[in-house]
Amino acid sequence: MKVTASAPGKLMLFGEHSVVYGYPCLVTAVNQRLTVTVEANGESVFSLKAPDLGLITYSKTIEDLGKKPPKSVRFVETLYKIFLDKYPQKKTIKVTTKSDFSSLFGFGSSSAVTVAFAKALTTFYGINLSKKELFDLCYQAVIAVQGVGSGFDLAAAIWGGTIYYIPPAKVVRKIKLEKLPLLVGYTGVKADTPTLVRMVAELKNNQPARVETIFQQISQIVKQAAKVLEKPLNLNQLGKLIQKNQTLLKEIQVSSQELNNLIWASQQAGAYGAKLAGAGGGDCMFALADEANCNKIKQNIKKAGGHVMDVELNAPGVKLEEN
Ligand code: MEV
Repeated sequence: MKVTASAPGKLMLFGEHSVVYGYPCLVTAVNQRLTVTVEANGESVFSLKAPDLGLITYSKTIEDLGKKPPKSVRFVETLYKIFLDKYPQKKTIKVTTKSDFSSLFGFGSSSAVTVAFAKALTTFYGINLSKKELFDLCYQAVIAVQGVGSGFDLAAAIWGGTIYYIPPAKVVRKIKLEKLPLLVGYTGVKADTPTLVRMVAELKNNQPARVETIFQQISQIVKQAAKVLEKPLNLNQLGKLIQKNQTLLKEIQVSSQELNNLIWASQQAGAYGAKLAGAGGGDCMFALADEANCNKIKQNIKKAGGHVMDVELNAPGVKLEEN
């Protein structure tokens, strides 16, 4: 028997960082997917083939699972170990992953691989989990690997679409997104999310009242944006919220020179608003555009040293695929 599942990546729209402290965020699933196949291997080891993650073949005895896995398989191996501790199994498995994430910038490939694997794995062993139970399993693995995180990316990979999220999946509300004409720019600088989350934690430790106030303001923006997104698109209104969120992110020092350059370049070309998307420190930004200024914004992002990424929003969540 063979089970294949795929899960999407994500783009954070509003509310990064404050979401780590229990405030809401808005996130959308994107059309880059991670596909994982689980099958019996008839051996006594767990084996993995992940050519897109730089791993041709990898295997581990069940007893050694979780002991210093290489970076590229940490999420899969940790999840498998947690799963087996909870639901002991006799048959061992072979796992194959396939990614259509851009090699330039993956929109949350670790959350997508974790979710796609969890879905394929539980289905393979005949264990039926609700979306929330699947989330809890994946979230446990993510926290074991990286220590921090709100789980918003897992929720986007599981539920798909565009969601209003309060961690850890206490609230997951689907937003009926009409249309959202965003251009996504990649700075060319890879940023490390846990490092940025820890930097903000330190700032919050040193200036608790100030940072708390900023988080509350971001939270208000998220709530307003959720309302605006469900109505017929008002570019001016939404653009203002994007700008306000970016200003607050700058105040907690997570924007970088490269991000600021791409944001500035987009604004100069007439974007309604532009902000970083995710942890900051590099990675991606997006600009709200309309048909009239879309090409100019793309050109300006490129001139400012960025790469324009081809992404579609509101993608479906985790699903089983034909073998
Ligand atoms: C990273 O893409 C978003 C953060 O809010 C971290 C998280 O929510 O896990 C910075």
